[in-house]
Amino acid sequence: PGLDVLAKRAGLLYFGTAIDNVVLNNTAYVAIAHNRSEFGQVTPSNGQKWMYTEPQRNVFNYTMADEIVKPAIKALQMRRCHTFLWHNQLPDWLTAKNYTKPELISILENHIKHEARYFYDTCYAWDVVNEAFNDDGTLRESLWLTTIGPSYIELAFKFARKYVSPRTRLYYNDYGIERVNNKSLALQKLVKDYVKRDVPIDGVGLQAHFTIGRAPSYNDTRGALNLFTKLGLETALTELDVRVDLPDSEAKQATQAAVYAASVKACVDEKSCVGVTVWDFWDPVSWVPSTFPGYGNACLWDEKLQRKPAYYAISDML
Ligand code: XIL
Repeated sequence: PGLDVLAKRAGLLYFGTAIDNVVLNNTAYVAIAHNRSEFGQVTPSNGQKWMYTEPQRNVFNYTMADEIVKPAIKALQMRRCHTFLWHNQLPDWLTAKNYTKPELISILENHIKHEARYFYDTCYAWDVVNEAFNDDGTLRESLWLTTIGPSYIELAFKFARKYVSPRTRLYYNDYGIERVNNKSLALQKLVKDYVKRDVPIDGVGLQAHFTIGRAPSYNDTRGALNLFTKLGLETALTELDVRVDLPDSEAKQATQAAVYAASVKACVDEKSCVGVTVWDFWDPVSWVPSTFPGYGNACLWDEKLQRKPAYYAISDML
């Protein structure tokens, strides 16, 4: 049995993967990506981001997203959709000009309205807001914060709730919140206030981009997930990968395997945690080597498309 089959037996809703458009011409890759016994859920790595979905103001394009989402529907894989609002991968028309606050709010609502309606009921969950916090728990400088102020986050959730299917879960998603720390505590405070004031939020996604030697332990991740379980929210590990400082070695692969298994187990054991998504499953197409020079081999399948020790550590644990 594949990872999704085992994950479901262990009580999760899904074990999933992100998929990027650049590799869709590789049939061996695609066969694994849409193999429902391995992956019961899919996230488009890029296709639903603002620069691709609204490349010109009020001109919408879902070609890249559909290349991932449509085969996932066909393969009966759940979809996590990613993302309405982020500070990265924005189109030039949006970043190059200084809009007023009312203009930017209406641009935000229009963007969410179109994308939410297009995918209306196809997403199990949407990452409504991505990476709004700094590590110290303050809000990240961005055009959203500068022009609209801190309320841009709740506005995004309200717009999402207005236009997407009532069944779709609305998530806040971030990295570096897989321990109890300044960032996860600041997020907990924000979410607690949202719950109190009925701002529509259903879940918190912990991205879980880890590095061997510095990764959160099982207990760390449980503690972080529990910050949100306590508020009655759903949680998920949304972008799990575990990078290795190159050159790789057998010992490093064993450490990586232990980190993967502990992370997945933390989700399995935490009541609110519905599933785990890896941020691609194949080393050569991972975002890690280009983003973190000197690091790589972060995934479950190696360059020869063979399963690595990390794969077996997860399947043995499940
Ligand atoms: C990454 C993609 O994987 C890359 O292909 C792209 O060039 C940059 O974005 N956190 C996120 C994801 O929420 O959207 C990012 O994806 C990885 C970090």
